[in-house]
Amino acid sequence: MDFQQILNTLQSDLKGFETKGKVADYIPELRKVSPDKFGMSLTTLDHKTYSFGDALEKFSIQSISKVFTLALAEKYGDEIWQRVGVEPSGNPFNSLMQLEQDKGIPRNPFINAGAIVVADILLSLFENPEKELLNFIKQLTNDDNIRIHEKVALSEKLTGYRNVALVNYMKSLGNIKNDPTEVIGFYFRQCAIEMSCEQLSKAFLIFVDDGKVHGKQILNELYVRRINALMQTCGFYDEAGEFSFKVGLPGKSGVGGGIVAVHPAVYSVAVWSPILNKKGNSEKGMKALEKLTDLTGLSIFL
Ligand code: DON
Repeated sequence: MDFQQILNTLQSDLKGFETKGKVADYIPELRKVSPDKFGMSLTTLDHKTYSFGDALEKFSIQSISKVFTLALAEKYGDEIWQRVGVEPSGNPFNSLMQLEQDKGIPRNPFINAGAIVVADILLSLFENPEKELLNFIKQLTNDDNIRIHEKVALSEKLTGYRNVALVNYMKSLGNIKNDPTEVIGFYFRQCAIEMSCEQLSKAFLIFVDDGKVHGKQILNELYVRRINALMQTCGFYDEAGEFSFKVGLPGKSGVGGGIVAVHPAVYSVAVWSPILNKKGNSEKGMKALEKLTDLTGLSIFL
């Protein structure tokens, strides 16, 4: 299949695509991003990468980081599933109401509360979880140029009161083991990692290749299968059904406007367009992935 040709077609088909939403503004630093950015990269199982547009420009990966932290939490073992559920939330990613209903056990690891529990687990597992996380992503991308955008991290630290409420609530119910200020500090920093579409599509090849990176087994195969299942059912919060219906791939979005999706054993793909729909997912990014699976016929549902 000529992936470059397909990406070029997709790029020109979407030239006139009109977005109705807006760039994330609840994290003040993210408002500064140009709404017109648009890039995409696709990496096949045999490590060939095809791209267009702003595919090399870095952006804030935000909730996409939740997939990397969940992967790194593998060492914690099955006990993780006592502390965080595996069901779709059907609610906004930062819902307080649902966490109260669920008695402090977040519905899944990709809503904010769930990712905050995973951040707490990494704080328990590693002396320097930030360094561990950055090294892990460097290993996945085979690229040392992976950094945290300090201004974005600080911007969320100064305004992220809702996340502070989530961590404190879970601490009061015993589902946070470390100091909540440290836990949420680490969570804000993981969200502020910057990566390009090319780096993301390369990094997600581990979820295409059964946990292997360049032939070396890094994650257990069963754990990778579970992460892919969670991306399929929970990766887009209260829009997970819509993404499955239209695109048909496991994936994960972030409010920086990025989306990464995988077709196990075939390819990984990352797209970036900062304008978000009402559910906090990239509007044009979703359309682009829908077109990709239409044009290639390569969705996991055929
Ligand atoms: O915690 C937050 O609200 C952000 N740092 C991340 C949220 C996010 O990316 C949701 N995804 N679409």
